Amino acid sequence: MKLENPRDLFVFELSSMYTGEKKIDALLDEVCQTVDDDQLVRMLRDHQKETQQQARNLEQCFQQIGESPREVPCPVVDAIHQEFRQFVGMNPAPQVLAMFALAGADKVEHFEIAAYRGLVNKAMLMGETMCMQLLETNLLQEEETAGKLERYANEMGRKALATA
Ligand SMILES: [Fe+2]
Repeated sequence: MKLENPRDLFVFELSSMYTGEKKIDALLDEVCQTVDDDQLVRMLRDHQKETQQQARNLEQCFQQIGESPREVPCPVVDAIHQEFRQFVGMNPAPQVLAMFALAGADKVEHFEIAAYRGLVNKAMLMGETMCMQLLETNLLQEEETAGKLERYANEMGRKALATA
């Protein structure tokens, strides 16, 4: 794809997030099948549904600007996925794995928050209001999810330290 102007960059970054959301859907699925913590699994399953909706919001965003998603990788999500698999391979205790998975999920959210903040700003500067609103919807969900994950991480950490 050509990368010559800010609009090309926007399409590139939007495509990367579209790839990312689909990869996050698969990652959440894998984490839910691996960790042994009902509350965490519920939280991640809820966010998985949101993630699927976020991918659809991005599809709508492409439509709004008269573009289609390009084949752009999302190596940040790949790296977090790889980190999770490596950790699972080290045979951690279930509680330790749940704590690690929670921190990993929060890393994903913060990556997405940064990426969506950048995209919202670019959509605003380009005057793409509908697209900006769709991106803001996704951004808000990521921020709320990060907050929930962090509150639960705190709770889980306290319990783990109390029984250690
Ligand atoms: Fe997301």
